[in-house]
Formats: sequence, structure tokens, C-alpha cells
Amino acid sequence: MKDTVIKIAPSILSADFSKMGDEVMDLEKKGADIIHVDVMDGVFVQNITFGMKMVKDIRKVTSLPLDVHLMIVEPWKYVEKFAEAGADIITVHYEACKERLEETLKLIKRTGKKCGFVINPDTPVEPVQNLVSMCDMVLVMSVFPGKGGQKFIPEVLPKVEKFRKIIDEQGLDVDLEIDGGVNFDNASLIKRSGANVLVAGNTVFTADDRALAISRLKNL
Ligand code: DX5
Ligand code: ZN
Repeated sequence: MKDTVIKIAPSILSADFSKMGDEVMDLEKKGADIIHVDVMDGVFVQNITFGMKMVKDIRKVTSLPLDVHLMIVEPWKYVEKFAEAGADIITVHYEACKERLEETLKLIKRTGKKCGFVINPDTPVEPVQNLVSMCDMVLVMSVFPGKGGQKFIPEVLPKVEKFRKIIDEQGLDVDLEIDGGVNFDNASLIKRSGANVLVAGNTVFTADDRALAISRLKNL
């Protein structure tokens, strides 16, 4: 693996929304590398979270990269708006734009932001493998998207290995992120499979000591 630096990206889905600014500042203070921002539209997934305004407002309180995970239909309609709001990385689901994924990734690129695709636990690598080289990030879901605190699905790990192989064989500068159910028991296995960015909602937010939780996830 070319880039062995492990980054932890706490998901603000598990934060107290009534004090989001403080939560984000606290994560930065406690050693988070990236802030993972879960945008849900109530259509692509059942839940509704927040939109561009949240990105714009938390942009003011942190210098950490904002990793915006769009769980929305027709994401091409919104990527420019999220870019303007201050996202650094924008990822879109293959399942939400099967025929237009490449076009949508190019659209994100044109905004000057980093781009990536996300695949659900039951989506194979094959339909998207040729697009890895145009991405800055590849996100493998290890739960079905829609809510935090779900159980990790270990069957997705062979896909992580496949993406790692593609990235390394082609010498690409692409982050490989995993999202859903990451905890102290599976972090080490996930890293061995080749992921270098670990999203963690529940594990960080339920910890008594968030700094310790982040450093354990990073160093386990
Ligand atoms: C799921 C979201 C994830 C998730 C992570 O739809 O994309 O970011 O909330 O939370 P945990 O770590 O609690 O599974
Ligand atoms: Zn997410």
C-alpha cells in the first residue's frame, strides 16, 4: 500500500445536532483527520438529515477536510451547491447515478473539489472499477446506508482488497474509505484489507474519551 497513513473520519450523523458547531470543533481537538458529513434525502435512503446549509455553517468552525457523502437521488443536481458550501470531498452513490456516474464525477472535478464514488454492500466492484483512476476517494459501504449504529458487514472486505489492488497496481493517489459499523474489534482487519480512511460514528460519539477512541481506531 503506497499511502499507509490511516485517517479517521468521524460521522456527524451521530452528533447532537443542537450543538453541531461545538461537536465539530471538539472532533478537531480530539484528533479527527476528516469530518464525514452524511447527507440523506429521504428518497435514496429513508432518513433525512441536512443539506448545504449545514456544510456552509460547519465550514466556518473547522479547517479539517469536509467529506460529504451524498445519499441522495440525482446527485448531479446538487454537487455544485455542496462545493460552493465548502465541501472538500464529494462522494456520490453509484446506485443513485448508474448511467451518469462518470459525468457526475467530472462535474465534481470541475468545481475544483475532490471526487469519489460510493458502493453499497451488495454492489460489486466490476461496474465501477474503471472509474477508480479518476477518483480521489473510493468509499465502500459496510452497512446499508440510512442510519448510524448498524452492524459491520464483513463480507464487503474482499471488495476493499480488490480496490486496494487496483489502486496500488496503477500507482494511484486514491483514498480508500470504509463506512458503517467500524469499531475497535474490526478496525485492524479493515486496515489489513487495505482501507486507509475509516468512518466512525457510533464508536467515536459513544466513547467516554473521544480522543482515545480516535487514536485507538487509528493505531489498532
Ligand atoms: C450510514 C452512514 C455512515 C454511518 C456511520 O448511512 O453513511 O456514515 O452513519 O456510522 P456508524 O459508524 O455508527 O455506523
Ligand atoms: Zn457516510
